[in-house]
Amino acid sequence: MSNAEQIEYWNGEAGKRWAQDDDIMARLLLPFSQALLEHASLQDCRSALDVGCGGGSQSLMLAQRLGAGARVLGVDISAPMLDVARARITAAGDTCAELDFLEADAASHRFTPGDFDLLFSRFGVMFFDDPQAAFANLRNALAAGGRLAFCCWQAMKSNDWTRIPLQAALAHLPPPEPPPPNAPGPFAFADPERVESILGGAGFTDISLQPFTTTLRISEAPTLADAVQELARIGPVSRLLQGQEQGVLDKVFPAMESALLPYYNKGVLQLPGAVWLVTARNA
Ligand SMILES: C[S@@+](CC[C@H](N)C(=O)[O-])C[C@H]1O[C@@H](n2cnc3c(N)ncnc32)[C@H](O)[C@@H]1O
Repeated sequence: MSNAEQIEYWNGEAGKRWAQDDDIMARLLLPFSQALLEHASLQDCRSALDVGCGGGSQSLMLAQRLGAGARVLGVDISAPMLDVARARITAAGDTCAELDFLEADAASHRFTPGDFDLLFSRFGVMFFDDPQAAFANLRNALAAGGRLAFCCWQAMKSNDWTRIPLQAALAHLPPPEPPPPNAPGPFAFADPERVESILGGAGFTDISLQPFTTTLRISEAPTLADAVQELARIGPVSRLLQGQEQGVLDKVFPAMESALLPYYNKGVLQLPGAVWLVTARNA
């Protein structure tokens, strides 16, 4: 997908659905937020850009962590998600950094050069069609010595939360056209060498990728069938199921239930998820 197609995608059904489910996503992704905030060097940071901020739950956490006197700007291409994000501004109290949001393409927007101490992102940087150019553009917005910190998914084989439902669904669906290698998308930064090459090519130094794995609390639901309905709304499986006929879904959902049974215990569906915590510095 080109950046223009990403803008269409994140302003269409997918963006609206994420906006509607943003509180669920914020709860689901909380372990990654906490790991990223611990891992990023936040000391002395007075201004941060949250790239692909979506509904802004992570921007708010960052603003709370940086505290009064600092500033956080969330940038995103999705109007419905930014509506959710802007509604969070009132939750930022006096002890919080100033929080604001901007609708713009982070890959090409002309930010004020050197304006930020930190470029930050939770899963918002894997969608650029030319990632090296996008990161070079973002680096211009960083002060000399400024830092980059983001998390991105490791390979699908390490992410059972999406691999298992996807495999179960694919038993009843024709496989989708394989995307071109390194196509923008949730798993575009799974290969650490590729990430190092993109960031190095964009002029970053001290590049580090640290693995982080956790158990994702996908859903608390009275039945496994309900939990599967929630899981089917997120990640690559949701893209696969979008627009499928009811007859197909009637086969897919029971298959997903069988595959996920071992992960459903006492009303909670939990599966492993693995990310890279990526940091780098503007020379
Ligand atoms: C997987 S969502 C993550 C949202 C948010 N960071 C979170 O963790 O809740 C990816 C986000 O990246 C945004 N995005 C994709 N391409 C972008 C671009 N070129 N510029 C700014 N935002 C972009 C999407 O609109 C979407 O909100």
